[in-house]
Amino acid sequence: MEQTILVTGSTSGFGRLTVETLARQGYRVFAGMRAAAGKNAPAAEELRALAQREALALQIVEIDVTDDTSVERAIAVIIETTGRLDVVVNNAGVSYSGPLEAFTLEQVQQQFDTNVFSVLRVNRAALPHMRKQGSGLLLQIGSIVGRLALPFLGLYGATKFALEGLTESYRYELAPFGIDAAIIEPGTYPTPISAKRQIAADTERAALYQDAIAAFATPFNAENRSATPPDPQEVADAVASVIAQPAGERPLHTVVATVAQRQAPQAVNDAVTQATRSFFETLDLPLATLALKGEKERKRT
Ligand SMILES: NC(=O)c1ccc[n+]([C@@H]2O[C@H](COP(=O)([O-])OP(=O)(O)OC[C@H]3O[C@@H](n4cnc5c(N)ncnc54)[C@H](OP(=O)(O)O)[C@@H]3O)[C@@H](O)[C@H]2O)c1
Repeated sequence: MEQTILVTGSTSGFGRLTVETLARQGYRVFAGMRAAAGKNAPAAEELRALAQREALALQIVEIDVTDDTSVERAIAVIIETTGRLDVVVNNAGVSYSGPLEAFTLEQVQQQFDTNVFSVLRVNRAALPHMRKQGSGLLLQIGSIVGRLALPFLGLYGATKFALEGLTESYRYELAPFGIDAAIIEPGTYPTPISAKRQIAADTERAALYQDAIAAFATPFNAENRSATPPDPQEVADAVASVIAQPAGERPLHTVVATVAQRQAPQAVNDAVTQATRSFFETLDLPLATLALKGEKERKRT
């Protein structure tokens, strides 16, 4: 049966590449975006033209992930159109950068609203349909900075750390319903995210960190700014690869990054998986151990 997939935040970057990749692989894809008739109309038009040119089952759905009504309407449109929803790729996100003390609480709330509360909002709208089907996949786009705490990305990183915990808990809770949860952990890739990023509002305090920010950012972003930057298509391919794996056997974590950025988050994943498994085994929780099945299989390869 043709699988129906919603990808949030598909105007640019990973989301855009992901909808194109999945549609070309034959999935029925809903490219979620806000302001599809407004500021994102050109992006929507490009995707519509692509769908027509290549005869793809790819259509736009309006979704502002920070808005309850918009999210509920988007899920309703998908269900009315196709009768099912097999995969949600929670990709929409923004990045706030700067020293932690220089963000206002309003900024902190906005950062968490887009990157964390929205994921809960979208998944809450999608899950009743997946439960009815007895299948589904919630696939979050995390980050290596959700595995390793770094300076000046602490606020953004905290949202990605939150997604790690949420994804694991979803996985254990939803396995009995036949629903999977997994997370992709990209390293830094040259997408429009840095151009769209929000800067800490208290510029006076941020200025106190100026030298340290430069000392961190220059090496951290070096690969992205090199003549051979990493290709964001790698993330779209990783999303497609996780979706294609059999239900219940998908890896919980998938790091997608250059060799330099891949090893440390992978080591964290392996350590967490091992510690979690032994914790569950000690407590004799077989269901939770089952939910880590994909991790075991990934480690063997
Ligand atoms: N690029 C990296 O290095 C990197 C690394 C790790 C993880 N990530 C994660 O990857 C995901 C995609 O980022 P990207 O790098 O591809 O950046 P991007 O090109 O800026 O894409 C972000 C997408 O999220 C959308 N979005 C933001 N707020 C939204 C809202 N309230 N409702 C609906 N859509 C919203 C944006 O739409 P608009 O065009 O309307 O703003 C855009 O389509 C994010 O979750 C990001 O945190 C990126």
